[in-house]
Amino acid sequence: MAQKVEIVIDGKTVEMPVLEAAEGLNVIDVRGLIKEGMFTFDPGFLSTASCDSRVTYIDGDNGILLYRGYPIEQLAENSSHLEVCYLLLNGELPTQAQLDAFIGDINERMPLDDHFKHIFDGFTENSHPMSMVCAAIAGLASLFHEQLDISDAGYRKEAALQLIAKIPTISAMAYKKSIGEDFVEPDPSLNYAENFLHMCFGKRGEAPNISPTLSKALDKIFILHADHEQNASTSTVRMAGSTECNPFAAIAAGTAALWGPSHGGANEAVLDMLLEIGDVSKIEEYVEKAKDKDDPFKLMGFGHRVYKNFDPRATVMQSSAHAVLEEQGASNDPLLEVAQNLEKIAREQDYFIDRKLYPNIDFYSGITLKAMGIPIPMFTVLFTLGRMPGWITHWTEMVANPFKIARPRQLYLGEHKRDYTNIENR
Ligand code: CMC
Repeated sequence: MAQKVEIVIDGKTVEMPVLEAAEGLNVIDVRGLIKEGMFTFDPGFLSTASCDSRVTYIDGDNGILLYRGYPIEQLAENSSHLEVCYLLLNGELPTQAQLDAFIGDINERMPLDDHFKHIFDGFTENSHPMSMVCAAIAGLASLFHEQLDISDAGYRKEAALQLIAKIPTISAMAYKKSIGEDFVEPDPSLNYAENFLHMCFGKRGEAPNISPTLSKALDKIFILHADHEQNASTSTVRMAGSTECNPFAAIAAGTAALWGPSHGGANEAVLDMLLEIGDVSKIEEYVEKAKDKDDPFKLMGFGHRVYKNFDPRATVMQSSAHAVLEEQGASNDPLLEVAQNLEKIAREQDYFIDRKLYPNIDFYSGITLKAMGIPIPMFTVLFTLGRMPGWITHWTEMVANPFKIARPRQLYLGEHKRDYTNIENR
């Protein structure tokens, strides 16, 4: 039965419909409220659904994450990142022929135009790779602006393929620039994760030499990051995209939003934190700092807006971390010991239990990436690479349907109208 919610404004009863979710909480449709002369107030969107979507579902209380209905654990175990990209974009798993064609489409678009590579010349070797990646993604807008037509399904598909294909190349080039080495071109005989590792760690002119354990672990990391419904960066992509801007520019905006330590930048921040703690003997001191309201320090890699039980991505990540650490002979890494003890101590304390603060994906991805030999400033770049299909799928979902420009309102608390005073009278 259709539910309704009533509120009383100055004695007048206003009815608001309740929209039924396929899974999870229903939502009160407040769109008609403006006619009654009021807005809702929800900074940080704690109680607000910003859109409807059919892509990804999270049940934060039960630690469930579904891409197009499929549990993340099953996808991480059985699928490949490109198959997941296809699933997110198209809503269904591909047949073998569809997957082969999709892989061909991606491989074809992986190389960057020679003139475009000069975008990296503007950066120094000390530049943060995320800044190079943001700039290069925004730069792609210039290559695909002439034919810009977001109402054309063909254009939208091409934009999605270009972004998924070019992000490993851009990311690897940002890395090569940061270590002052020549770029390595993509190799169509390699799979997606292998190609990225080859472009990062291979040498120009040398045959690829990739560990299957590492490429499998990396592919899994990409799958785990592929989408996460309306998080800050995806919402940024939708918000920018709602102005009908170039999709490459909208994705660049999302990339910038991802960089922050509260979001995708947390994987880098976790490693910085573990290095700062340095030794198990100092864990208690840092846990106390995290609990102290007067200290801005937070335990990076802990907590999540939606997951209030466990982060299912962290569980998969933890088991994948062990395979990598073993292969790399890093099982005795003192940082791992610090991480494991930190998790144990934090999990036992009321402060974290009461606030439902559990390790999130970034807690273990950082340790795994470090063991793989990925430099710390590249961690958030890998998150960007993984999240690309999610961003472009959400952008596509939005622009392929009727949408409005995102234009939130505010609760104004500033000065009332007042007259300008000349400078000599102030
Ligand atoms: N360490 C210590 N205290 C914390 C932490 C933490 N990591 N996270 C939250 N709290 C406390 C917070 O101070 C607040 O306490 P109180 O109720 O006494 O005021 C309470 O827990 C609720 O926190 P909140 O800040 O209101 O929660 P939020 O939903 O606004 O923020 C978060 C979620 C992920 C930004 C936050 O937990 C955080 O900053 N965590 C560390 C950064 C991190 O690991 N981010 C990666 C998120 S997962 C990757 C992704 O999908 O982006």
